[in-house]
Amino acid sequence: MRLHTRIVEVIEENPDVKTFRFRFGKVVQAGQFCMVWDGNGEEVPMSFSYTAGLKGITVRRVGHTTALLHNLKEGATLRLRGPLGNGYPVQSMKYLIVAGGTGIASLAPAAEAIAHAGGEFVFLAGFRTAREIFFIDRLKKLGTVLLATDDGTAGYRGVVTGLVEKVLAEQEFDACLTCGPEIMMQRVSALTGDIPTYCSLERLMKCGIGICDACSVGGLQVCKDGPVFRAEMLRNLGVWA
Ligand SMILES: Cc1cc2nc3c(=O)[nH]c(=O)nc-3n(C[C@H](O)[C@H](O)[C@H](O)COP(=O)(O)OP(=O)(O)OC[C@H]3O[C@@H](n4cnc5c(N)ncnc54)[C@H](O)[C@@H]3O)c2cc1C
Ligand code: FES
Repeated sequence: MRLHTRIVEVIEENPDVKTFRFRFGKVVQAGQFCMVWDGNGEEVPMSFSYTAGLKGITVRRVGHTTALLHNLKEGATLRLRGPLGNGYPVQSMKYLIVAGGTGIASLAPAAEAIAHAGGEFVFLAGFRTAREIFFIDRLKKLGTVLLATDDGTAGYRGVVTGLVEKVLAEQEFDACLTCGPEIMMQRVSALTGDIPTYCSLERLMKCGIGICDACSVGGLQVCKDGPVFRAEMLRNLGVWA
């Protein structure tokens, strides 16, 4: 069922990314997503970027529908189906969290849930450049946050997987959560080795509920069986080399 809700707040995180906060009475787990429709464009999948109190989605403008969403102002109506899919496993243990770009949208609430459950995290966030950085102040209050930028304008200079190597050489972790470009997640899971590593996949989606098969990978449906998968499973099914 599609729920109509009004946008309470719009936050411009950077020139290409906006967060929309709204009331949504259902319980949402970090890592779950919703199908969002502005009433004109397509319905598109978006992770919940806030899962407690006022809920939120954080949208990077990449094409037609995300541009329409970016035009929405406070008070406008959002039409949502969800929460959909599974979430990240959250326990009282030590996590390595690795975000690439907008991947931070689904991982920030996971870090909050881990802290709330009594666990701890080291959060590695990679961006292209300093002016694209968002959500960091929100996370610094709860755990260790290290930045990587491709151009070196903030934190470690280079791709975030370089930072993963450094941190893994110094610390031990019980589990790893990662979301971002698939090539980044594959590299992260190669580096984490035996540490259980959970990756959030993005695929084109239509129904979001396991009917149309638009999102299938290796016999799995990303919308229903995921979007969060163990890296080991993706390799065993041949989704990843
Ligand atoms: C489970 C899930 C969670 C997501 N969470 C977020 C989020 O929190 N924030 C966010 O900004 N985006 C998120 N996305 C991606 C988002 O759904 C797409 O960017 C959006 O559908 C693009 O629509 P568009 O009409 O603006 O772009 P289009 O014109 O349709 O496409 C523009 C470009 O984006 C690519 N693209 C389109 N749809 C997807 C998709 N589903 N996955 C990957 N690439 C796509 C196209 O191949 C093309 O290169 C998520 C996707 C999934 C599957
Ligand atoms: S989007 Fe239809 S089956 Fe996943």
